[in-house]
Amino acid sequence: MPLPLGAVAQGAVPAGTSTDGSVPQHVAIIMDGNGRWAASRGLPRIAGHRAGAEAVTRCLRAARRQGVEYLTLYAFSSENWRRGPDEVADLTGLLRFYVRHKVAELHREQVRILFVGEVHRFGSDLCDELARAEQLTAHNTGLTLLLALSYGGRNDIVQATKAIARAVQRGELDPDTIDENMMSRHLLTAGIPDPDLVVRTSGEHRISNFLLWQSAYAEFVFLDSLWPDFDETTFAQVLEIYGRRERRFGARPA
Ligand code: FPP
Repeated sequence: MPLPLGAVAQGAVPAGTSTDGSVPQHVAIIMDGNGRWAASRGLPRIAGHRAGAEAVTRCLRAARRQGVEYLTLYAFSSENWRRGPDEVADLTGLLRFYVRHKVAELHREQVRILFVGEVHRFGSDLCDELARAEQLTAHNTGLTLLLALSYGGRNDIVQATKAIARAVQRGELDPDTIDENMMSRHLLTAGIPDPDLVVRTSGEHRISNFLLWQSAYAEFVFLDSLWPDFDETTFAQVLEIYGRRERRFGARPA
């Protein structure tokens, strides 16, 4: 089923305007509630995921308009492989459809696309398409969209630790020089600033193995609404909540 391609509004605020802290530079979202959205309408789960993909378009448009520079969406967790084969196939098909039909538009809009996670698990064909999308958009200067696919925060920390341990084993690294910055540089999100704001929809108050290291100082906003209902108004409300938070990073109140 073709998904409507969301047109991005003229006059979108260019990336790089959020440096005063009122707008989060990096927003990360746990998109939850597709299944419940579908069930409440008597529809199959895939209908909820399709509606969720349309919400992705609205979210991206809102993020660009608001001047957010990095948007990370948790599209498939490392635990989602435990879902039934039919649902995994549906989600993989939806992802393939999204990449095939949206990348050209996102490229025109100067969106840089990155995929983080064990994407090889989706098979070489889809993996090649994802790599092509990354290459095509690599030099774009607008919003950076990270799609977390087969991503798990614990696994991210483990793979970074292994890479550092191997460097020590080769004699290239003194263990005493290992610090937090080095860990960050070995995570799958290397080079991307940590999220300022993590949002989860659907009334669940869990992090579910998402960006565990990276969200150490993020603000969290939990919404009762279901992901397929997410729109520009929801995004503005979330930024409004964020704007009222005082971020202290462990320091004493001023
Ligand atoms: C959680 O809802 C959502 C997912 C596991 C998949 C997220 C996928 C999308 C939003 C659509 C595809 C995205 C792209 C980028 C093409 P759930 O199924 O766990 O909902 P439930 O908790 O109500 O059952």
